[in-house]
Amino acid sequence: MTKKIAVIPGDGIGPEVIDAGLRVLNRVNDARKLGLEFVHFGWNADEYLRTGISIPPGGMDDIRNNYAAVYLGAFGDPRVPDMKHAADILLGMRFQLDLYVNYRPVKLLNERLCPLKGKSGQDVDFVIFRENTEGAYVGMGGNFKKGTSEEIAIQEDVSTRKGVERIIRYAFEFAKKTGRKSVCMSDKNNVMRFGGDLWLRTFEEVAKEYPGIEHFHMFVDALTMQMVRAPEMFDVIVTNNMFGDIVTDLGAALQGGLGMAASGNIHPGKVSLFEPIHGSAPKYAGKDVANPIGAILTAAMMLEYLGHFAEADLIERAVVAAIDANETTHDLGGNLGTRAAGEAILQRLEL
Ligand code: IPM
Ligand code: MN
Repeated sequence: MTKKIAVIPGDGIGPEVIDAGLRVLNRVNDARKLGLEFVHFGWNADEYLRTGISIPPGGMDDIRNNYAAVYLGAFGDPRVPDMKHAADILLGMRFQLDLYVNYRPVKLLNERLCPLKGKSGQDVDFVIFRENTEGAYVGMGGNFKKGTSEEIAIQEDVSTRKGVERIIRYAFEFAKKTGRKSVCMSDKNNVMRFGGDLWLRTFEEVAKEYPGIEHFHMFVDALTMQMVRAPEMFDVIVTNNMFGDIVTDLGAALQGGLGMAASGNIHPGKVSLFEPIHGSAPKYAGKDVANPIGAILTAAMMLEYLGHFAEADLIERAVVAAIDANETTHDLGGNLGTRAAGEAILQRLEL
């Protein structure tokens, strides 16, 4: 049985890094007969500027009904300053496909890449689960007396019991399944009293169902400090949408930069979306300089989601080998372009 994968390269460096990721995916798919079929979707800024449409009618339902996963590059284009198409497509899929788990591993693959002094791959090895369907991202709020000196702007931060409970439970389940020792919930409940109270109560209740797993709470300001000072204290971190957005960029830096980090937007058992954490980096677009590793590790994460664990592992090992050999793009200290760095990984795939 074939499984269809929607490929949305997007804007900027998206098409280049997705091309590198697809070469790896195609090679693995052919060699291991995974039965994946990749279907290209041209949803991007060019198309939006040409037609005024970000997602064609029926597009979201097509993905929901006919695809196993979405493999996405990046969105963002200086010609669309309000990021309307990006919001429609990326946030649109997160909300409409109810992709409530944003899975962002922080794993240092080579000590040389870590900006922290004296930290090893064992120290920097944890997972962040970011709630992905509510919080400050719901776009609720409004303004009053806009453009006057009396202007008021309100931006709501929404937490629901259902939304908070399912992401916290997912974090504990993940810890249990993967043998991780602890789950840390991070928020700012000393200031955000109402939402924070819901998060903390839910965390304590769910934790009772997992007596074998340690749990602790940390304010998000302290979390950013400890991620830098003592990353080894974390196994699994769970947090809300906005804090998760912020701390996962820091997490990416601990692994060697935004070019290294992978992410999954997941609804267990349903079509889920996989994208590198980095943005579209318009100024590097088409220059063959972007690091393809984030996109390639994202491809591996997608295979893992689809149940192809051995193949995901093979890809990660090929990435590690290429980094060890210094066959990388400039951001990691190598001297290869996007294409050649992708090729170096392809060469190391032990199929
Ligand atoms: C991310 C990005 C997005 C977010 C932007 C592009 C809307 O920063 O995936 O981390 O804020 O979620
Ligand atoms: Mn972000």
